[in-house]
Amino acid sequence: MKDYKEISKKSFNEDAEKLNLEESSEENKFFMKRESYDIVQEEVKKENFDDFLDIGCGIGNSIELLLKEFPESHFIGLDIAEKMIELAKKKKLSPEHTEFIIGDAENLPFDGHSPHQSFDVVICKETFHHFPHPEKFFTEVYRVLKPNGRFIIFDFATTEISRWIKNNITNSFSSHGICHHYNIQEVTDLYKNFNFEILRAENVTDDRMIVSGRKIIKEQTK
Ligand SMILES: C[S@@+](CC[C@H](N)C(=O)[O-])C[C@H]1O[C@@H](n2cnc3c(N)ncnc32)[C@H](O)[C@@H]1O
Repeated sequence: MKDYKEISKKSFNEDAEKLNLEESSEENKFFMKRESYDIVQEEVKKENFDDFLDIGCGIGNSIELLLKEFPESHFIGLDIAEKMIELAKKKKLSPEHTEFIIGDAENLPFDGHSPHQSFDVVICKETFHHFPHPEKFFTEVYRVLKPNGRFIIFDFATTEISRWIKNNITNSFSSHGICHHYNIQEVTDLYKNFNFEILRAENVTDDRMIVSGRKIIKEQTK
């Protein structure tokens, strides 16, 4: 199997080296479409949260935006590309309330119970398609979410024909380690298999979907 993680790491490190935060325009700083951040923020704001985790955080744009509205919450951004994390740290966002760490989505470095090691909200924005082992990723997210925690995936969406072409032909040439293009059904099936209650699942723009779910802990019968 191709080493998708190494390819992602290398290409996103290269992208980070080209980004100059001091000289970039506001628009360029949001290297993904600005509209996509707004959609994810709206979903996050439905939840009361103390602990927030952004998996595949890039240069920390989502956290930068949310921190303005939730200055008392604790935010962690995790990314496999160390140069992305360097840039996120350079922003010098509130040090008491933010941490940016290098790590792999499929092997999260949190014990799931100590302070700031479990989360009320986990997001994964425009990153899920890079993961070679989606079940491993879901297992990890489930492990670190608090009971009733919310898990939001925002990712590419496309027609079934285009998806077939990407998954069967063009992904193998992707310089950014794109592993699989999902449709809503595949993502919601994963949520359901991991016992999440689906709160929202829709295509929100021409080319993006959002799926949001809650970790439900079933009462144990005596
Ligand atoms: C397209 S960018 C999105 C960044 C950010 N979520 C945003 O929307 O601004 C994808 C990010 O996922 C990261 N990534 C890819 N595979 C990863 C993995 N296995 N674990 C953690 N991060 C990963 C990349 O390094 C990159 O920064």
